[in-house]
Amino acid sequence: MAVARKSKFIDPFERREIRRLVAEFGSPLLIIDCERIRHQYRQLRRALPNVDLHYALKPLPHPAVVSTILEEDGYLDLATTGEVELVARMGVDGARCIHTHPIKRDIDIRSAVRRGVRVFVADNPDELRKFVPYVDQVEVLLRVSYRSPGAVSDLSRKFGCDPEQLLSLARRAKDLGIVVRGLSFHVGSQAPDPGKHVEAIESCRVLLAAVAREKLGPCDTLDIGGGFPIDYSQRAPQIGYFCKPIRAALARLPKRIRVIAEPGRYIAGPSAIGVASVMGRARREGRWWYYLDDGLYGSFSGQLFDHAHYPLESFRERGKREPSVLAGPTCDSIDVIAENLMLPQLDSGDLIIGRAMGAYTWASASEFNFFPRATVVSVNQRPGDRGSVLAVDR
Ligand SMILES: Cc1ncc(COP(=O)(O)O)c(C=O)c1O
Repeated sequence: MAVARKSKFIDPFERREIRRLVAEFGSPLLIIDCERIRHQYRQLRRALPNVDLHYALKPLPHPAVVSTILEEDGYLDLATTGEVELVARMGVDGARCIHTHPIKRDIDIRSAVRRGVRVFVADNPDELRKFVPYVDQVEVLLRVSYRSPGAVSDLSRKFGCDPEQLLSLARRAKDLGIVVRGLSFHVGSQAPDPGKHVEAIESCRVLLAAVAREKLGPCDTLDIGGGFPIDYSQRAPQIGYFCKPIRAALARLPKRIRVIAEPGRYIAGPSAIGVASVMGRARREGRWWYYLDDGLYGSFSGQLFDHAHYPLESFRERGKREPSVLAGPTCDSIDVIAENLMLPQLDSGDLIIGRAMGAYTWASASEFNFFPRATVVSVNQRPGDRGSVLAVDR
């Protein structure tokens, strides 16, 4: 991905810089480039003008990403008490955050309210009842389900009420004295095309009008969720093109409706790379097996949980290429990153990088077998800090 760089920034995804960072911080690494975070955020802002972007922390809950988004005047989307506490430790004003997990414990609501979060999501009557002790301090977005079998993860399978149930849910909220601030949906992550977003916006336009007609609450916000796709081994539509029909659908909403979104992957995904090194190798059944210090139980966990295929590169380029296997470090046989990758002969210490590894990778990594998660290095954190490494988490 081309990022317009002013001279004050280094490109930490260039080989020379990657080598420098590995020499300094060891391997495996997850290198976050805050300049790319900025670039992704601005691209989406341009593609969706007039939509307030709440960065969803879950794909990469890292303070460097959070502070970069806030410096851009962005907002945050929190889903767990852990995320609430992370941003509270950073001194973030809860009013810049929404809490969008549709199913919560009382303690989750209480701790978020204590930190100043006001807007929550609910999708069923049981969940609405949990807000009764907090009616003066909270407002809800009612989440509607629009199934999306084409998305890589169909989030409307697990959450959201049917559109037909929405009015009775809004009536229930009113009976309980809970302010309905608006509606929300998430059509699923890494959406293949904008069709589901458009369908959901059109449906919500009708529902918003029905709620207004019955005077069931201010209902002046529509949260269009995330789902904005990025390039992996397969290319995704360019974001301006992807959002064009979404912009057209949003333009048909009444002017009084504030539109927000909860992008995670689009901002975090392309903004980090994974760097692993070869720990050892063995020739098995006519192929080289290279064992890396990161694998499916670590940053490559996204291959399992998120069904992502990260573009992989070897630093060693010279030599005859032959089908090879890249395996993770653990003793489990499932821990294989790629088979039949055409690679020159590698040796211990050789570096492999995975591109587009910012989203749902390190966040879902474990320390199985006591292999530590990758060290996170964030670079170019504040405009003007020339290539400074501002955060290193071991
Ligand atoms: C409620 C909610 N909001 C936002 C997101 C981020 O979605 P994406 O990464 O597709 O932008 C998710 C992803 O699971 C989610 O569950």
